[in-house]
Amino acid sequence: MTTRRLVITRSAAVIGAASTGLLLPELARAQSDKVRVGFMLPYTGTFAQLGVAIENGFRMALNEQGGKLGGREVEFFKVDDESNPAKGIENATRLVQRDKVDVLVGTVHSGVQMGIHKVARDTGVLNLIPNAGVHVATRQQCSPNVFRTSFSNSQPTLALGKPMMERGHKKAVWITWNYAAGDEAFEGFEKSYTEAGGTIIKKLGLPFPNVEFQALLTEIASLKPDAVACFFAGGGAAKFLRDYHAAGLSKSIQLYGSGFLTEGVLEAAGEAANGVLTTMHYSDSLDTPRNKQFRLEYAKTFKLQPDVYAVQGYDTGLLLVKGANAVKGDLSNKKALYAAMEGAEIDSPRGKWTMSKAHNPIQDMYLRRVENKENKVIGIAAKAVADPATGCRMG
Ligand code: PHB
Repeated sequence: MTTRRLVITRSAAVIGAASTGLLLPELARAQSDKVRVGFMLPYTGTFAQLGVAIENGFRMALNEQGGKLGGREVEFFKVDDESNPAKGIENATRLVQRDKVDVLVGTVHSGVQMGIHKVARDTGVLNLIPNAGVHVATRQQCSPNVFRTSFSNSQPTLALGKPMMERGHKKAVWITWNYAAGDEAFEGFEKSYTEAGGTIIKKLGLPFPNVEFQALLTEIASLKPDAVACFFAGGGAAKFLRDYHAAGLSKSIQLYGSGFLTEGVLEAAGEAANGVLTTMHYSDSLDTPRNKQFRLEYAKTFKLQPDVYAVQGYDTGLLLVKGANAVKGDLSNKKALYAAMEGAEIDSPRGKWTMSKAHNPIQDMYLRRVENKENKVIGIAAKAVADPATGCRMG
């Protein structure tokens, strides 16, 4: 190709691109267009309620800013990820390539998160994790563009062993769904419980999202442990609480769990949940003005009681607001955006928390007991719990 032809071809391409807006300077585009936010969350299946609570909480944080991020209007895109890991990459790719989102908010399920994580690392899109606790996302595969506002899977259970032993429960059975969240929750439980002197006499499990608990409950009855500890969440957690109670076990074997067991399910579980002890980074009954104001506003807006998932969604919104305000809406200024988010202190309904170098919250864990459809705080089980961030080289 001659130089002249090359010039003509290039300028034709330039005119074409300019007419579609592709060549507008990044800043002008950043300030004129809407911020594109993609929700990749479960809206069907056992975690459906969790997805809705996260989206509600996130929208509430933006509504407090007049619906804007760094002064810019916001446009939302949504994908139901069905908590199906097999579709994780495809669904995340749809939001990034087709919808061209600036920020991908998702998700709940650790297996699905791995699909999002691959897409986030391959494309560099900003990913805010409002729930899924899968360890590698903030350990070996931590990434500058990935921030988690919830917990790592072993954080809540790292606080569980000590209160169990303090109550004289020295022999326990562990039960969960066999997938990353259950396996990694076990990691925290095993460490805290055995270090406190407890013995785990059996590990039981079933595939996600199976809720056929009967055979396993029969086995627990025959093992006669002092206590049962578990990870379940969403619709499956409500069913587990009801089945545990119906099997007569709640009378004789104290049930413990990471707090997801009793989040968003207390109406559905009814009296079956009474007396269950859990550790978690939030509690409905936290007696602070911040929590009370949040709960009131959420209930008024959505005609629902908020739970930990609503708080995590809200905090995800608060974090993005902080970042977007720091760069005056220019989300393409990634260096400054990420720096602002890394240094953020989030004034959350759960209490104030900060972001670790690996982009995971450093936060207190509360010990809670269910009383009359409420998670009552009965103490702080562990202060400023940080994930070990093993293998993360950021910071
Ligand atoms: C997860 O898959 O990481 C997960 C799901 C639901 C929860 C907590 C963790 O409540």
